[in-house]
Order: sequence, then C-alpha cells, then structure tokens
Amino acid sequence: MDIKALLSSLTTEEKAGQLAQLPPYFFKKEALHEVAGPVQRLKLTEKEIFLAGSVLGVGNPEEMIQIQQTYLERSRHKIPLIFMADIIHGYKTIFPIPLALSGSFSKENFHLMARASAQEASLSGIHATFSPMADLVRDPRWGRVMESFGEDSFLAYQYAFAMTQGYQGDNLKKKDSIAACLKHFAAYGSPLAGRDYQQAVLSLHDYFQYYDAGYRGAIDAGARLAMSAFNVFEGIPSSISQYLLKQVLRKRYGFKGVTISDYDSITETVMHRVSENDAHAVEQAMLANLDIEMASGAYIKHIPSLISSGRLPMQLLDQAVLRVLKLKKDLGLFKNPFKGVDVKKEKTFPLSASQRLIAKKLADESIVLLKNDLQVLPLKQQQKFALLGKLNHHQGLLGPWSWHGDREKTPTLKDVLDPHFLLSNDIEDTTLWDHTTLTQILDADVFVVATGEFEKESGEARSKTNPTLDIKTIHFIKQLKAFNKPIVLILFAGRPLILTDIIDDVSSILYAYFLGSESSLTIKDTLLGLNNPSAKLTMSFPRSIGQIPMAYNALSSGRPFLGESFTYTSHYIDSVNEPLFSFGHGLSYANFNITDFIQIASPTQLTFSVSVSNTSDIGGYAICNIFMQAPVASVALPNHQLVGTHKIYLHPLTTEKITITIDHQFLTYVDSNLKRQIHSGLATFFLHGTSLFQKILLPYQAL
Ligand code: NOJ
Repeated sequence: MDIKALLSSLTTEEKAGQLAQLPPYFFKKEALHEVAGPVQRLKLTEKEIFLAGSVLGVGNPEEMIQIQQTYLERSRHKIPLIFMADIIHGYKTIFPIPLALSGSFSKENFHLMARASAQEASLSGIHATFSPMADLVRDPRWGRVMESFGEDSFLAYQYAFAMTQGYQGDNLKKKDSIAACLKHFAAYGSPLAGRDYQQAVLSLHDYFQYYDAGYRGAIDAGARLAMSAFNVFEGIPSSISQYLLKQVLRKRYGFKGVTISDYDSITETVMHRVSENDAHAVEQAMLANLDIEMASGAYIKHIPSLISSGRLPMQLLDQAVLRVLKLKKDLGLFKNPFKGVDVKKEKTFPLSASQRLIAKKLADESIVLLKNDLQVLPLKQQQKFALLGKLNHHQGLLGPWSWHGDREKTPTLKDVLDPHFLLSNDIEDTTLWDHTTLTQILDADVFVVATGEFEKESGEARSKTNPTLDIKTIHFIKQLKAFNKPIVLILFAGRPLILTDIIDDVSSILYAYFLGSESSLTIKDTLLGLNNPSAKLTMSFPRSIGQIPMAYNALSSGRPFLGESFTYTSHYIDSVNEPLFSFGHGLSYANFNITDFIQIASPTQLTFSVSVSNTSDIGGYAICNIFMQAPVASVALPNHQLVGTHKIYLHPLTTEKITITIDHQFLTYVDSNLKRQIHSGLATFFLHGTSLFQKILLPYQAL
C-alpha cells in the first residue's frame, strides 16, 4: 500500500476523519438511531461518523467484525478502522494489577503479562492497547497508582520497556501483535494532593530526573503510540503543549509514532481556559502535533474549516494523517482489516489452562508478606482457622481496569479454601454475629480476615483523602483482638493503605492488592505454605496522611534528623519520618543470607557479584537490589537510588553466586540545565538483599 498516494487522494474531511476516534456504538447499524443523543450533542452527522479512522474499546470479536464490515462497505477508500482498547492487566484472563506485579521485581513477568494479554486481546480484533501506563507515583491518595509501576524510575523504565515489547512482539504485522501506547504524557502520576485530573506538581528537574523514565522505556522499546495526559504541566494542558509533545516527546526522546489525546482532553482545554472554544482547542492540539483526538469528534468538526481559513497548514494535517496510515500499514490492516480476530478461539483460549497458569505464576510472585510475627504463617496443618472479613466470599478480586474479565468465573477465597476452615462469616461486627458463630469461633486457632478496599475504590477518578481501612473494619479488628488469637490479615487494595491503626493488633499481613483471575488460589497456596511469598513493595506505605507524598529516594535535607535532642532538623514533632513499610520491604517464609558483595573488575562495565544462601528448609525467590549513592554532583541527588536488581530461586539449604551488571544509562543524572550527564567521582553501592536492609559499602569510581 502506497500510503503517500492514498493520502493525496483524500479530501480534507477524509483526512480529518482519520484523526478521529469514536466509541464503537457510533458505527453500529442497528444502533444508529439509538445514538441519536450523543450524535446530536456532538453535532456529528452520520456521514461524519463514517469518516472516523479508529474505534475506542470493543466488546467482543463479533462486534469488531460487524463494525469493520459496515465501515468498509460505506468507505470510499476502504481504509480499515484501527481498534484500540484499554487492556491494562489482561483481557479475559486477568493478571495482577501493575502495582502488584511490579513487586515481583521481574521485567520478564511484565513481558509475559503483555504477551499473554496481546494473544487474547487480538482475538477480539483489538489492534492497539492503551498501555503501558508509565506514570511515576508517590501519592497513594491517587486512585490510579494501581495501574502504575510504583515510585521508582529504574523499575518504571524496565517494566515499560518489557511491556511494550511483550505487546508488540517481534513484528507488528503478526496476528497476535498489538501496538503499545505509553501514557499519560506527561507526569499524570503527580496530581496536586492526589486528586485525579489536577495539575501535576513537580519541578522540571524532578520530571527529567525521575518521572520520565517509564515513558523513555516504552519509547526505547519502540512503542507506536503515546497518549497525552489530562493534566496541566508547566502551565499548559499536556494535550496542547508544544513543549511536551514536540520538544520533549519527539525531539528529546526521538518518538516517531502516533500521538493520541486522552478522552476529550483536547476540548477540555476550554475548561482550563487556555482555549477560547473547541475550534481553538483543536488548532492548538494540531499545532502541538497531537495526531488522534479521542472521543469528542472535535477534529472531524473543526479541522476542515481551520485548514480552509488558513489557521492550520495542510502540511501539518498531512503529516499527522501519514503517521496514522503508517501505523495501520505496519499493523498489516490494509492487507487484512480483520487481522487476529477469531470468534471461536476468543471463546476458548482466554482462561484456558495455559493462560491461567501464567496468571497463577504472576499472582504467586506478586503477593507481599508484610508482617509475620511468630511465624504464624504458613498455617500449620493441624490448625483450625476461622475465615472472616467482608471480602472472604467476594468475587470482586480482578481489580479495576478488567472490563472484559468475568467476575462470575472468579472463585472467592471461601470457594477455594473450603473445607480447610472451621467457619466463615463476612459480617465485620462481632455484636451482629449469630450464636453458632460466637460459639464456634472459640474453637479456632487462628483468625484469617480478608478485607480491604473494594475494586471500585481505586482506579480512575477514585482519589481518597484518607487511604486507610474502613473505620468499621478497624473496629472489627479491635473486637477480634479481644479473643486473644493470632490474626492473619489478607488485604485487597489498589493502593498502599495506611495501616498504623491496626498494625500492632495483627500477627501477619498478606497484601494481595488485586491479583486477578487466580487471586484466591494464590492466597490459598500462600496461607498453606505451598507458595512462598517473595514480592517487595514498590511504593512506600506511609504511617499517616501527613507523610504523603513520600518516596524512598527523597533528597537529603541539609539538616537531616539526628535524634530528638536536636530541634532544628528535618522531622515531624508528632511522628517519625520513616514510612510504616518502605520501598523494597517484603518477607519470605525462607531465610536468605547474603555474603561476598564485591565488584568484578572490568574496564567497560560495572558488575557486582554476591553469594546468596537459602539457610531454611523451604525454597523461594530471593531478590537482590543494588542502590547507588551518587558521587557529588552539580545537583542534589537521593541518598540512594535503585540501579540494578536480580531475582533468583533458591532451593532449601543451597547457595548461589550471582552477578549483576549495571546498565550505564542508570549511572547518569540530569543537571540543572536539564541535560543528562554521566557521573564521575566516588559512588557508593548498597545491597538490599533480604527483608533487612544490609548496607555493604563499596566505593567505586563510576564509569
Ligand atoms: C481515560 C484514561 O485516563 C485513559 O487511561 C484511558 O486509556 C482512556 N480513558 C480510554 O479509555
């Protein structure tokens, strides 16, 4: 397909259409009269609808086939529609939410999840996914931290890179390859006071030093799309920011793909009062090289008159359309507009044994053992336990952004634990329990309480001022405490919750986040000791709201806290500075020991070796993280910053020697002119091996 020739045969209206994305119902034959409402509101005619070049979200393969067919029948040039959708952590087989999976400290796991997602999603005719969400986060009040990789830039880079490769495969033309779209460009993860859609609060230096890592990872891996964010950045809404979309995205990062707005975010610039009206918003977005407008139809409506009045040059429009046509060509859509779609296989492959196996593995490696006093976990065979808490028999375990997932097919904890428990009850108030429960409970050796957030409490537009447990749940845990039995908490949540109120009342905490389709099986296996938890936190767990925002790699103050006797140091008078659980925390049932952390001499690369021993009688994954304290530089840098990681499975009573090579790009920093520089001088490297933070100092002349 000669896309340049095709472009020259298009009218201005047809070109503008290629840049418009509409939801699927607009195109459905039988739905046309039903959508009269929205069509009227947007004032899009039926003719204009059928000019649109892409579709947002599609329910199933039948729908995709019907829409593509109808569209092609009516289209003058038969340019196929491209179907895009939010496949965030799985299509029908749902994997752990990204924040949970990030704790597995494995880029391979992200690759696996993205590949398995692409294999399923492509069966319903989806050609592009709005993922990876690469926004760095430091504020658990924001509901969308669940979609993120956490607070660390090294991980964000690696994970965004791996996911992009996983979705796109080795050749975008293949039927199970889908295009990746990095989002939300830029700094959507840093909204003022954690309230969604608010302006980003960060300095430009922070942005380039920490926040842009995930976007760069996706771009370096060849992501074909980038989505602009809802938020204002440096005074300008991202969707019309020439600085962000031209200077930074295309020039600095070398992004060559298609840019797309977030839902209505271009016309929303009228609300920001930086555009006078929709036409002005469209003009500004086009001038910023924002290629596809999502949802409002404003491009179809206004581009033609902006071109004819000379406010927009045709060349600008042509460049944008060419990028979209190229994406369609590279995806192989001109050859086969129905690429990948398979009505039959879409019914059998998702949730098949092999897909579930992947979901189980990823869930097993994502669950975090936060606390385990007196080794109450794993439960012992002879122990009788009571299964309590409002989520013990609840199917909402897939997590937000799993709109193709089927909760009816998701087993609850109670389903899978039966017949292991003595009794189950989900009323979180012992005064409301019936007589049988009150009598039986006395026989239990352990209370297992599954509680936390419901799925709808995190995700988009789910910000909270108080990210803690429900007050009723806190009271309930206090009531249980009076029984004087060990309490094991299983917490579901889309964010780090503030657990200060109950932390001393419970023996053990398994933090499950939302682990997807196999949530319950993983929790069961972890309770019973068949899965040894290995994940580590990638977002700090604050003690109080007042500590938010927080991250492990905050800068040193000029007056660090030196103990109570010094007044004028950086501290709170009503709390310690440290989080309740910090980045990298996560226990195991095994005991690991780390020795011989040394640098291996090499003129070209920075490599360390370390011996890791499992001194216990249970096998498990050990995760070794290397942090760097950078040499003195022209800008202040964190006391320690993750620069390398290694995960290894160790059988009982075995020792392995591992080597970790640090990628040169993580031995750089951004100076005050926002230029990336290579470190020079004496750096210190720390190893964080097990649950304890072991400091092994190693002065090193950075390369
Ligand atoms: C709005 C969200 O911010 C974005 O992440 C998502 O991809 C779009 N809606 C499309 O659903």
